Amino acid sequence: VMLFGLIGDPVEHSVSPVMHRVAFEETGIDGFYGAFNVEKGELEEAILNGQKDGFTGFNITIPHKEDVIEYCTELDETAEKAEAVNTIKYTEKDIIGYNTDIVGVRRALNEEIDLDKMDLDVVVAGAGGAAKSVITALKQNTNKFIILNRTKSKAKKLSEGLDVESSYGSLDGLEDALRDRDVDLLVNATPVGMHPKTDESILSKDELSDKGSFVVFDLVYNPVETKLLKNAREAGLKTVEGLGMLVYQGAASFEIWTGLNAPVEAMKKAVE
Ligand code: ATR
Repeated sequence: VMLFGLIGDPVEHSVSPVMHRVAFEETGIDGFYGAFNVEKGELEEAILNGQKDGFTGFNITIPHKEDVIEYCTELDETAEKAEAVNTIKYTEKDIIGYNTDIVGVRRALNEEIDLDKMDLDVVVAGAGGAAKSVITALKQNTNKFIILNRTKSKAKKLSEGLDVESSYGSLDGLEDALRDRDVDLLVNATPVGMHPKTDESILSKDELSDKGSFVVFDLVYNPVETKLLKNAREAGLKTVEGLGMLVYQGAASFEIWTGLNAPVEAMKKAVE
């Protein structure tokens, strides 16, 4: 049996186990995927034990995506670029770190925007780890970013730490930013609208209307269609669900571990 798992804190509500178990079934892999709650001080032990116990790899989630770099003996270029690891794979001697969040974002967005062709003007709401990974995923196309956050100083810090064209501001200025710029993509990288507060949205339908034709991408995936995406759809805008990113990052991890094509459709059904 091949052993896999998720390391994070908390992990109880993660859909990764279900998604990967379905992938094993579909591809005939005799696999086990567990969810392991690992606190900050226990990370090194968990990673080393995984190797001793014969695990093939792990997904790594909040709050360990940056700390785990220290315990990797090698980083793939995706992890280098993101300065964060969400997938590790054990080889006989090495612990290799990857970041499949990047390909997850790109594959999900590519369904609505041709990312390779465009020089995008991107508005990002939020300035945490999720915002950073979206920006990392998109910055290779010489895109322009404006980062708007509830706490403006955090947006400033993220913006100034990037090696791409970016500016920052307060989240209060979101509607104005959409009005004043020729925006291609709006990303919600805050938890606003997440279960159980599903009535909340960073923008109303009215605030989204008559601002041009950009795509709205919400990283929140529970519910699948958030209030923001519903408002956007009703305002006539194209939308991309966070669930797509979740499934594609999982699919990419599965492919790294097994060398097989991931059964994306079945994985998506399973998490829905
Ligand atoms: P993640 O790793 O998921 O990005 P994070 O690093 O905690 O998580 O970042 C969460 C982001 O969502 C932050 O930018 C946070 O804003 P603050 O910097 O002001 O805390 C933002 N956020 C969280 N709750 C929010 C809310 N109710 N309204 C607006 N922004 C919110």
